[in-house]
Amino acid sequence: MGWKILSKKFLNNEQSVFEMVVEAPDMAKKAHGGNFVILRLTEQGERFPLTVADYDVEKGTITIVVMKIGKSTTELSLMEPGEEILDFVGPLGKSAHIEKYEHPVVLVGGGVGIAPIFPQAKELKAIGNHVIVILGARTKDLLFWEDKFRQIVDEVIVTTDDGSYGKKGFVTDRLKELMENKPLSHVIAIGPIIMMKFVAKLTNGQGDLPKIPTTVSLNPIMVDGTGMCGGCRFLTLDGQAKFACVDGPDVDGHNVNFDNLIARNSRFQREEHERLEKFEHECKLLAMADKAEGECKE
Ligand SMILES: Cc1cc2nc3c(=O)[nH]c(=O)nc-3n(C[C@H](O)[C@H](O)[C@H](O)COP(=O)(O)OP(=O)(O)OC[C@H]3O[C@@H](n4cnc5c(N)ncnc54)[C@H](O)[C@@H]3O)c2cc1C
Ligand code: FES
Repeated sequence: MGWKILSKKFLNNEQSVFEMVVEAPDMAKKAHGGNFVILRLTEQGERFPLTVADYDVEKGTITIVVMKIGKSTTELSLMEPGEEILDFVGPLGKSAHIEKYEHPVVLVGGGVGIAPIFPQAKELKAIGNHVIVILGARTKDLLFWEDKFRQIVDEVIVTTDDGSYGKKGFVTDRLKELMENKPLSHVIAIGPIIMMKFVAKLTNGQGDLPKIPTTVSLNPIMVDGTGMCGGCRFLTLDGQAKFACVDGPDVDGHNVNFDNLIARNSRFQREEHERLEKFEHECKLLAMADKAEGECKE
């Protein structure tokens, strides 16, 4: 028996990002912001991680928000309510650190990283924090959940790279404005590695700006999600090797060797790109062979 999909909704016009609610009552009782799940769709399918984007203990559900990027995420996007996911393992990873801060806490979500900041915003607000979120996307169509955030936090700032909605610019521009105008206790950033790198740089006490403790959520390649395979290894600036699946994914942003992480992830991307090119090349050869065969037969 698998885990039943209760609903699926695409969050943008180009249908590249979708939200899925999955029936998982035991997991919903234990889940917190910062946790992730590992899915497998078929017996032969690969295992892939997704962050818990919301949980509802009363309804017994876990929500995930997924960007279609390759084979597994596309396969998942084709599944419909009523169908079952073969493996849905979690909650994995350390839960986010939640405490009552003196000053506002700012959560920065970039792209599909908007979703994972939701449960953390909810938990921080529930214990009385002043919560500000900055939602950033390349363009208006890629923004989602603005209303959902407005219902639970004190302030929502929206920014798009192309200026098609909200303020034009990067999330770091908006964060810098906030840092210049009021004291902040903590910053949490989830999104592309490059975005988290620049948020952490901004909050590291450079120039006249104050140093603000900053948490980022790392997403290197994960296989087992239990600290056994070493796939998600990352380096800290104080020279330690850690595993994102068990030491994170949420970690101190000022102690991450982002350049090493980017290089490590790029290495995998090159291999994946080569595999894709090889696959496309084989398809072309097959198509040519079919044609040649047809011509021979004539
Ligand atoms: C802790 C964690 C949480 C994540 N949360 C989300 C989320 O909430 N929503 C979301 O859309 N994506 C999330 N991701 C990324 C997601 O796991 C990948 O997009 C997915 O595995 C891609 O699989 P694919 O077969 O569709 O694409 P592929 O073609 O296999 O890969 C495309 C890209 O996805 C990444 N990727 C592939 N396999 C893995 C893997 N096993 N582990 C990590 N990254 C991989 C790589 O960067 C790769 O270049 C998360 C990753 C991690 C590590
Ligand atoms: S995913 Fe295998 S060690 Fe983290």
